[in-house]
Amino acid sequence: MYIGIDLGTSGVKTILIDYNQDILATAHSPLTVQSPQDGFNEQDPNSWIKATEICLADLKKQKSKEFSNTISIGISGHMHGATIIDDQGKVIRPCILWNDTRAFKECEEFENQDFDVRNISGNIAMPGFTAPKINWLIKNESENFKKISKVLLPKDYLRYYLTGEFFSDMSDASGTLWMDIKNRQWSEQLLEISNLNINHMPKLVEGNQEAGMLSSKLKEKFNFNKNVIVVGGAGDNAASAAGLGVVEENQSFISLGTSGVFFTPTSNFLMNTKDAVHSFCHCLPNKWHLMSVMLSASNCLDWISLITGTSISDTLKNVENFSKDIDNISNAPYFLPYLSGERTPHNNPHVRGSFHFIKTTTKATNLQYAVLEGISFGILDGVTSISKVNNNFKDIFVVGGGSRSSFWINLLASTLNRNLHVCEQSEYGAALGVARLAMFADNEISEKENIIKKIKINKDYFPKDNFLNILQKRYQIWKNIYSSNDQVINLYNSI
Ligand code: XUL
Repeated sequence: MYIGIDLGTSGVKTILIDYNQDILATAHSPLTVQSPQDGFNEQDPNSWIKATEICLADLKKQKSKEFSNTISIGISGHMHGATIIDDQGKVIRPCILWNDTRAFKECEEFENQDFDVRNISGNIAMPGFTAPKINWLIKNESENFKKISKVLLPKDYLRYYLTGEFFSDMSDASGTLWMDIKNRQWSEQLLEISNLNINHMPKLVEGNQEAGMLSSKLKEKFNFNKNVIVVGGAGDNAASAAGLGVVEENQSFISLGTSGVFFTPTSNFLMNTKDAVHSFCHCLPNKWHLMSVMLSASNCLDWISLITGTSISDTLKNVENFSKDIDNISNAPYFLPYLSGERTPHNNPHVRGSFHFIKTTTKATNLQYAVLEGISFGILDGVTSISKVNNNFKDIFVVGGGSRSSFWINLLASTLNRNLHVCEQSEYGAALGVARLAMFADNEISEKENIIKKIKINKDYFPKDNFLNILQKRYQIWKNIYSSNDQVINLYNSI
């Protein structure tokens, strides 16, 4: 038996699978995010421990015999969070999360060196990443900074609790900005920019390698029969990729969750920092991946549904009816989906959402259409940014809450002018991905190459000519709106 633990922003999810990867039990426990100021997002690391213990107890309750026979555990987590601990192993302050934008000034300072930071880190310094957050602490909470003994990513703090050991895996560590992504190691040069050194960092392993054993205290508490191995695991996106079987370079997936992600593996280190593409190690050896991240995807849909007093499913139905007449689309307003700033391709934490070309005839449905189209254009921006350095992906899976709407996937297929596939999926994709990584640590499994299985396709979606033409024209206008809007942002922020 193998356990996958996925530490998500809104909750911990765990999965128990057997040798055939049949799911025996799943469990979930919610988490909250604290926002002490606009743009600040934090979480108490102790809440991760409590939620994980609740989930493990729940798995045990559901399948006690199988649970006790667990061989190994994999952990996935939300990326980039700065969890700082002192020399007693105590958490110094709440973890600063991936969607916290306080460190935008520090990004510029981080890159302002006498060597090319991006060439080593493979990425632009963005406020969501770990390093600028530590540079913010140096300036704003120097007493806390001085106490730092280790900087851990969220799932690696959870590992520390489970095993008492300090490890991270390559995929998650890629999001710190302290890694030499090409050579899969910490960069002393990059660490120095944050006044840190290699001793402040956990040891690096590949996602499927051993990275500690479950402590004897927890082995006893949860009644495990054997000494349980904990593997490196993965950042949440790489973990989802492992759960979908997306580990080869011609594969890819779009995730339509709170944020919108396009992810494709590569067999070499590639980068496109000009378009704020994320260039990270994958969670298996000798594999990397490119990723575009839009900060607000499905949550733009949630937002428009809320303010128009419509349920999400009714919004989708309204837009579907509206789109049957192409003339409606031609006359629809435009929406920039940047409710909380944007990463790919703009790297702009200050931009915000906006509607354009609103008329006296504009109704709630017209706005709802514009929002869905605006999110789809944002995804197209991401796919285009990645295509500039790597355009060999054939299959694009669509996952996440948004993939439940056939209408939206149809719109997306025409927006991207690509074939899309929706597959059997569960909310436990990332947890399944790391449970698979855990299977690599089982010496009884001889054919390790069969562990990462491809997911089964349920339905294919193809671009539709009538949509394609109008959407291509509207995309050009939408791009121009962003460029002209960009100049106003500084004025908006100056008052
Ligand atoms: C990736 C990113 C998010 C977080 C939270 O760069 O910031 O996907 O991992 O899920």
